[in-house]
Amino acid sequence: MNSKILIDKAQQAKKNSFSPYSKLRVGAAIISTSGKIFTGCNIENSSYSLTVCAERTAIFKAISEGYRDFAAIAIVSDLKEPVPPCGACRQVLLDLAGNVDLFLSGTNGKTKRLKLAELLPMPFDQSFLNHK
Ligand code: THU
Repeated sequence: MNSKILIDKAQQAKKNSFSPYSKLRVGAAIISTSGKIFTGCNIENSSYSLTVCAERTAIFKAISEGYRDFAAIAIVSDLKEPVPPCGACRQVLLDLAGNVDLFLSGTNGKTKRLKLAELLPMPFDQSFLNHK
């Protein structure tokens, strides 16, 4: 997986960020195992808690287009240091994409590479719903 292409896509998506409240632009790009890329940006709301993060925008776009299997996700922001996904996004991404590669890139050009599961130990998942 070429992380540079995915990071470039996330940087393009960041330009569409709607973030008048936090003024932090975030972009994400997720690639399916078949090679299709979906991008997303954070979309804030005047009722703050209704904000949707870039990562969830990207994966919901992919799922809604019928894609189910993913290889990697890139996340970028305006900050120098790489920004990690929030707790809500960790849950959603792990649930829907599994233990994919994660590329977190800062404007300083540093990229942290890790596996998504490293960021969410002991996750809640569908196995807990098969309890009957
Ligand atoms: N944000 C993301 O889009 N992704 C993250 O991983 C962290 C936070 C957004 C949400 C909000 O619009 C802004 O960054 C500040 O929290």
